[in-house]
Amino acid sequence: MAEDPLKAVLHYARALKAPRIRDSAARLADQARDGGWSHEEYLAAVLSREVAAREASGAAIRIRSAGFPTRKSLEDFNFDHQPALNRDMIAHLGTSAFLAKASNVVLLGPPGTGKTHLAIGLAIKAAQAGHRVAFATAVDWVARLKTAHHAGRLPAELAKLRRIGLLVVDEVGYIPFEQDAANLFFQLVSSRYEHASLILTSNLPFARWGDVFGDQVVAAAMIDRIVHHAEVLTLKGSSYRLKDTGIDTLPSARADNTAQ
Ligand SMILES: Nc1ncnc2c1ncn2[C@@H]1O[C@H](COP(=O)(O)OP(=O)(O)OP(=O)(O)O)[C@@H](O)[C@H]1O
Ligand SMILES: [Mg+2]
Repeated sequence: MAEDPLKAVLHYARALKAPRIRDSAARLADQARDGGWSHEEYLAAVLSREVAAREASGAAIRIRSAGFPTRKSLEDFNFDHQPALNRDMIAHLGTSAFLAKASNVVLLGPPGTGKTHLAIGLAIKAAQAGHRVAFATAVDWVARLKTAHHAGRLPAELAKLRRIGLLVVDEVGYIPFEQDAANLFFQLVSSRYEHASLILTSNLPFARWGDVFGDQVVAAAMIDRIVHHAEVLTLKGSSYRLKDTGIDTLPSARADNTAQ
């Protein structure tokens, strides 16, 4: 045993690149002596500080690299504004168990009803649970696939994306796709089917997706793959953005025209 064991611990912690062990070793040693901890309890306490800090910084890195337009949390979601929404289901999805099954989540509903909020909140939970996540609008995903396709590396790009456990595809339906874009999007859905998860948001019901993709057959095959293993949640009501404005309807909030 070295003459000064604490000095040795600090040396080893540096060698292991474990700065939290360095910080907590002396402090917890005093606490352990005062509290009469066993050696094992002390070691577990010191190691747990390092592991907790690593997990937190890993989650922070995954959240930073996800490309979220803004940060939203499930905790900040006001369920009173969506009384028909199944809170238990959202809580369950928040455990990220659906990622292990490569299941999907589809959030449908009119503008401002919280689709993007919930999508980001669920994706942040997944990042905190250790999964890689990436967020973009449908239009941006298609642009990315188009670039890869033109460079002759679409299969490589799809394989790369498959290694990301969760992709959020926001705003399916706001901008209609051209035929080649629809085909690229179909390939994205198809390559992830039963391999990795998607969260999709749309203001349009599935019945209208054929118009968005300009091809009923491609849309049907795509929806089939998406919903085979999926939770489809429909948000309802007026826009949260208008909550305190006195405006209670938007032109697009007609029942025949939206996913409500
Ligand atoms: N139930 C809610 N509780 C708290 N904030 C909410 C709720 N619903 C919506 N919001 C907030 O209202 C704003 C609009 O919500 P969000 O962007 O999620 O809507 P959306 O359904 O994605 O709309 P769009 O179809 O226009 O993209 C956001 O700032 C969001 O955080
Ligand atoms: Mg949105």
